[in-house]
Order: sequence, then structure tokens, then C-alpha cells
Amino acid sequence: MIVEELPERVREHVRNARRNGMRVGCVPTMGALHQGHCSLMERARRECDFVVSTIFVNPTQFLPGEDFTRYPRTLEADLRCCADSGADLVFTPQTEHMYAENAQTTVQPGKLAEVLEGVIRPGHFAGVTTIVAKLFAVTEPDVAYFGQKDFQQQLIIRQMVRDLKLPVEIVTCPIVREVDGLAMSSRNRYLSAAERDAAVELSRALAEASRLATESSLSSEEISEQMRNILQSSGQLEVQYAVLADPETLEYPLGRTSGGEAVGLIAVRLGTTRLIDNALIRFS
Ligand code: PAF
Repeated sequence: MIVEELPERVREHVRNARRNGMRVGCVPTMGALHQGHCSLMERARRECDFVVSTIFVNPTQFLPGEDFTRYPRTLEADLRCCADSGADLVFTPQTEHMYAENAQTTVQPGKLAEVLEGVIRPGHFAGVTTIVAKLFAVTEPDVAYFGQKDFQQQLIIRQMVRDLKLPVEIVTCPIVREVDGLAMSSRNRYLSAAERDAAVELSRALAEASRLATESSLSSEEISEQMRNILQSSGQLEVQYAVLADPETLEYPLGRTSGGEAVGLIAVRLGTTRLIDNALIRFS
């Protein structure tokens, strides 16, 4: 496995691979890798001939006061995980490689970034779209893999790729969960034992929403209310949002139609940690 800091060197390796007829897959990450990331790389390994993983804690997607400085940096373990998952090349740029001092250009997402996470973390998605566009420019992938865990992020990236006519296919991979249902996240390691116990309520609330969508005739607003009740019952979670939204536009409240699809989206604060989770839901 090649580990490379310099964008130009990465581009050379990728272009070499493509000259040899290889399909190039990219898995962008911020490191602190867990089984969710491994599943993205393993899927890329199955579907592509040359797998590039990127590890970069992107400063521009953190708001002032967020966890940028304490975000876990575990490069050695991450590289082992990349090797075990079959990556061919890992791009580990320094900040100056991705953000020149005199840089002026950013990628601004539109409406999809103005709701939910976009309200709570204004500017976050512009940081994401800007860095992902740059990572695509360096790694020139045929296909890029993102987790459904960041549901809004993958929608915004899909929209960016369509709007900017980037020649990249976006694949969204299922959420990987702990045995009790907690969605894997690099931020789970911040949780105390008591918080870890309470965190299971997110997946429980989503499972209940899914059950109510098929087994009751409650409206999506009423189901959202039930999700909020479950989350609040632990007494530890501060609910930022818990809604059923349109899985393509993220609009809510959502009218209930038989056979219609929704995405249940949750964000909570648990002590000093923020957790998000989601599930695709179909109404009976
Ligand atoms: O999902 C992440 O880890 C990040 O937002 C991404 C896509 C790697 C951009 O920094």
C-alpha cells in the first residue's frame, strides 16, 4: 500500500492506474477509522481495481467551538485498517496541501444545506463540498463511496456532482451498527459509559418510527413526536431534531402516502458529544 502526502504524486499514481485500464475508487475519510469506514473500502475493493482512501481532518467543516482540535488523530491504526481493507493508496495531505494560503475559491452548496445539520452547523457543508471537490480533483476517481450515516452529506455531495458535472459516480453504503444498534461513528469514543448506554436510544427511536410507519396510521408528524418522546425518556439526550423528511429533498413535514418513502433523521447532544443517526422508512 502506498502512503502519499503530495497531491501531484497521488495524481500520478492514479493516472498510471487508469492508463492500465483500471477503475479507480475513492473513499474520503477524516481518519479515526472504524468498521463503517472499512466497509466502504471493502466495497470499493470489490468494485474497483485501484482503491484510494484519503485521510484528512478538514478544518473548514468544523465551526468555531467544535471538536476540530480534539478530533481523534490515529494515523498508525488508520493505515493498518486501510491495508486490511484492501486500499492501494492512502492520501494523507497536510493542511497546506489542500488549502494554499492565498486560496479564495470555495464550493457553496444550495438548499439541501440550509436545513437540519445546516441550521445547527452553518457553514459546515460548504467546508465539506469544498474539500470533497478538491479530493476528487486530486484523486480523479470513477466512483466514490460515502456512508449513509451522514445522510444529508451524501445528498449534498450527489447534488454537487450533478451541478458541477463531475465525472464521478457516488455510491452510498449502509450504516454499520454496534450489536445494540448504535451507529458506528468516530465520535462514539468521546462517550462516557453512561452516555454510551443512553446513545442506544437513537437507533431505538428510528426502529420505532419504522414500526409505526408500517403498523399504524399515524402521520409523519405524530411519528416524529414519538421519536422525540423516546429520545427524551432517557433524560440524558438533548434532542436537536428528530423528523421524518423526504429522502431526496429533505423537506418536512412530510405527507403520508401509502408505499411512500421517508428518511428518519435524528441529531442529539449527549454531554459534550453530538450524535446523528438516520433510517430509510417506508409507509404501509
Ligand atoms: O464524512 C467525512 O468523513 C467527511 O465529511 C469527508 C467526506 C471526508 C470530508 O471531509
